[in-house]
Amino acid sequence: MTTNTEKVALAFSGGLDTTVCVPLLKEEYGYDEVIGVTVDVGQPAEEFDEAEETAEALGLDHYVVDAQAEFADLCFDSVRANADYQGYPLGTALARPVIAEAILDVAQEQGCTAIAHGCTGKGNDQLRFEAVWRASDLAVIAPVRELGLTREWESEYAAERDLPVEGGNEGAWSIDTNLWSRSVEGDDLEDPGYVPPEDIYEWTDTPGNAETELVEIEFEDGYPVAVDGEEMDPVALIDHLNEVAGKHGVGRTDMMEDRMLGLKVRENYEHPAATALLNAHEALEGLVLTQEERSFKKQVDQQWSEKAYQGLVDAPLVDALDGFIASTQERVTGTVTLKLEGGQCRPVGRESDFAVYSESAASFNTETVDGIEQADATGVAKYHGFQGRLAKQVIGGQEAPAAVTDGGASHLTDDGTGDEE
Ligand code: ARG
Repeated sequence: MTTNTEKVALAFSGGLDTTVCVPLLKEEYGYDEVIGVTVDVGQPAEEFDEAEETAEALGLDHYVVDAQAEFADLCFDSVRANADYQGYPLGTALARPVIAEAILDVAQEQGCTAIAHGCTGKGNDQLRFEAVWRASDLAVIAPVRELGLTREWESEYAAERDLPVEGGNEGAWSIDTNLWSRSVEGDDLEDPGYVPPEDIYEWTDTPGNAETELVEIEFEDGYPVAVDGEEMDPVALIDHLNEVAGKHGVGRTDMMEDRMLGLKVRENYEHPAATALLNAHEALEGLVLTQEERSFKKQVDQQWSEKAYQGLVDAPLVDALDGFIASTQERVTGTVTLKLEGGQCRPVGRESDFAVYSESAASFNTETVDGIEQADATGVAKYHGFQGRLAKQVIGGQEAPAAVTDGGASHLTDDGTGDEE
């Protein structure tokens, strides 16, 4: 490839993959200048230190963008959609479009003509990043995938060139951390039968270690706004609940995950705040939404979650689903009390001014409500399951019930069509 004077922006973490991409973008792709961009979605401080140090050692122009607030907002949108994918609350998946947008902004501001990531050709992230970038007119480059690099090759290449990859986050497991979840995969954990040791967990204590605790979460329009009466912005609220629920070992997921390319992978996640907020939110919906809204919303939530897993939260379908979600969330205002104990986080109380609930109607102690009496249910009870009874009789080769008999519930004509006489 011919050398050009063009500039490429690289999604940069300071790990092995993105570190080897820096010289490769120059040597193999002919770019004159590489800039590295690290986006803050709530990773631990050490990750930024590592990125900073590695960038410096590489002589890489390095930008750090704080996108925590945008990311937290998207996490809260996901709460309104009760979003999870196969049981995982989507931390990595939701972060990727936010990261991709932030890098694209820097790339455009800095006059880059291309944008690159260090993802392999096996995972989901390549698809999530590129879905955002390919909507721009920048060229998209994926050196690890395009050059067919392996970790082994990368390590040798880094050693040969004396690239700064020592220490850092190259431990046994591959970890991805942000505000919403911490994911641990690889090494021994790749064996679906391998029981993970306690030390893979950093956010969650061993369940049972803490005293039972109640926590009260307040929602406005489906958005979490306060914990135990204290209003907090989304980032602070998530941090706080990760701490509180984490002490109880709440929010561990050990699962087989079906990736977008069809591979199954064994994944371990921790997500205390996400679990607490999702459980509380769904409990509040249970109080304020009608049965049919709840039932239909399950399908909407499922679709929303799948698009989010794919990194496609900008899809027109998601806009349409958001329209439905927004209209239901107008009433999702109120408070839920959660009980935290032994790795569990159970709703144990809920209150709202919008409750679709009449205590007197549901109570066993009241005879008449709104002019409706117990006995009014008799007719409903007679019809309940009627079609099924009829079908069973037909299948059993019996004659359909005869037309109106004295005192019977049946009002059939003898052709059995159910037409009334
Ligand atoms: N499989 C998950 C997802 O696609 C998360 C993977 C996180 N990466 C990691 N190295 N732990 O959303």
